[in-house]
Amino acid sequence: MVIQYRLTACPELCLGVFIKGFGEDIKADDEQLIAQIISTKTPTLNVSDESMEIPELDSNGRVVSPTTDLRGHCEQGRTIAIHSVVVDPNYQGKSIGTILLNEYIQRLSVVKNADRFALIAHDYLVPFYERVGFESKGLSACNFSGGGWYDMHAPLLADN
Ligand SMILES: CC(C)(COP(=O)(O)OP(=O)(O)OC[C@H]1O[C@@H](n2cnc3c(N)ncnc32)[C@H](O)[C@@H]1OP(=O)(O)O)[C@@H](O)C(=O)NCCC(=O)NCCS
Repeated sequence: MVIQYRLTACPELCLGVFIKGFGEDIKADDEQLIAQIISTKTPTLNVSDESMEIPELDSNGRVVSPTTDLRGHCEQGRTIAIHSVVVDPNYQGKSIGTILLNEYIQRLSVVKNADRFALIAHDYLVPFYERVGFESKGLSACNFSGGGWYDMHAPLLADN
């Protein structure tokens, strides 16, 4: 449900890696999603619990109270809040996550529709995100899934 909401509200902030016709059980023309990044924009510097939620939507999928309901995607927000970076377990450890994150940062830096990227990470993944340009900002206030997260920020890439 939350993934469907994000893909509908701001598909331009989501990026996937697909492979075609690879593997014994896959037909030549079948595409398979093997990695993805899903984000929203938020008005705060850090990813917040609210930014991870879904606002109240009407039957047309519009936010019922856009000025007071700060949950979910905020088009005017200047922070791209990355909520999930996932690589299919069969393809992990092959640099796909690193390549996908670098490509994502490059593509969205060109658009210039935000000032920074932010995410929350557990301590063991902090070095992984540092390698693609994120900086740890200390313990996050997020309580999502038991808390214990670190806020991480990366700037948009400068023009070449
Ligand atoms: C984290 C993740 C996106 C990395 O993607 P990937 O394609 O496997 O990453 P790369 O091959 O580019 O880089 C691998 C590096 O990531 C780091 N890494 C990945 N998983 C790790 C883990 N569980 N603990 C510590 N380091 C980890 C390591 O530094 C690893 O380097 P190594 O293989 O030399 O040890 C992927 O492992 C994944 O989807 N994990 C499960 C979901 C998840 O935790 N997502 C992040 C929060 S939403």
